[in-house]
Amino acid sequence: AAPSDTPAALAAEAASAIARLTGVERHDIALTLGSGWGKAADVIGETVAVVPAEEVPGFHVSGVPGHSGTLRSVRLASGKHALIIGARTHYYEGRGVRAVVHGVRTAAAAGAEIMILTNGAGGVDPAFRAGEPVLISDHLNLTAVSPVEGANFVDLTDLYASRLRDIARSVEPGLQQGVYVQLPGPHYETPAEIRYLRTIGGQIVGMSTALEAIAAREAGMQVLGFSLITNPAAGMGDPLSHAEVLAEGRSAEPRLADLLTRVVAEL
Ligand code: 6GU
Repeated sequence: AAPSDTPAALAAEAASAIARLTGVERHDIALTLGSGWGKAADVIGETVAVVPAEEVPGFHVSGVPGHSGTLRSVRLASGKHALIIGARTHYYEGRGVRAVVHGVRTAAAAGAEIMILTNGAGGVDPAFRAGEPVLISDHLNLTAVSPVEGANFVDLTDLYASRLRDIARSVEPGLQQGVYVQLPGPHYETPAEIRYLRTIGGQIVGMSTALEAIAAREAGMQVLGFSLITNPAAGMGDPLSHAEVLAEGRSAEPRLADLLTRVVAEL
C-alpha cells in the first residue's frame, strides 16, 4: 500500500509539499476562511506564497462559490507564519470525512499549534443579527459522523479553548459567543428543525467547522472558531438563498478581516 493510504501519511505529504512550494519550513498557526472571512487573507500579514490547492496532495478545488481554492503562507507582524487554507471541503460534497478534515491534519503536520476556523452561518438565537461575528463557544455535531478513526476517545472539553476566546474578547470587547450546530446540508433547515435546534441549545447553524474542530483537537491543536451570521435561520426572517449569504459576507468582510488581524497579533 502507498504511504498516503493513511490520513496521517497524506497530511505529512501535503505538509512537505507546502514547505517546498512556500519555502516556509514551519507554520505556527492556521486559518480556514469561510464565507465572509476571505479578505483576511489579504490583510493579516505579508503574503509569502500562494499555492493552488491542486498542487498539494489530498486537496481539491471546491466547487462552492465563495471558496478560493488556494493555500497561502503569510508572515504576520509578530514574525509568526500563518497558513491560510482557502480550499475547504464540505461534508455535503461527498468526498467523505477524511477529505473534510485533511486541511486541519495538514496544518498540524505543518507545525501549527493553533487552528482558527471561520464560517458563514445562520442565526438560530434571535439575539444574533445578520452581519455580526460570533465567537464559537462550543458545538453540537449533528452530522452523525466523526473524523476520529479507531478507538481513540478524544476529550472535547473546552474544545474551543477558553484561553483563546478570552484573547479574542480582549481585542473585541462585547464580542458575542454561541453554540454552533453542524448539519450535513446541503439543504437549509426547515422552520421545525430550527425550533428543535434552539430547544437543544443551538445558537448558530451551518455546514462546516465542528468536524474540523474535532480533528484539530485530536491532532493536539488549540481551536478558535468564529461565525459570521449571514442570515436568520429558517422561520425567523425571509427565505434563504446562497446569493444572500454571499452578499452579506461580502459587506461584512472588511470588519471581519480587521477583527482577525487584531486577534492573530495577540496569539
Ligand atoms: Cl440557516 N443553515 C445552514 N445549515 N447553513 C447556513 C445557514 C443556515 N445560513 C448560512 N449557512
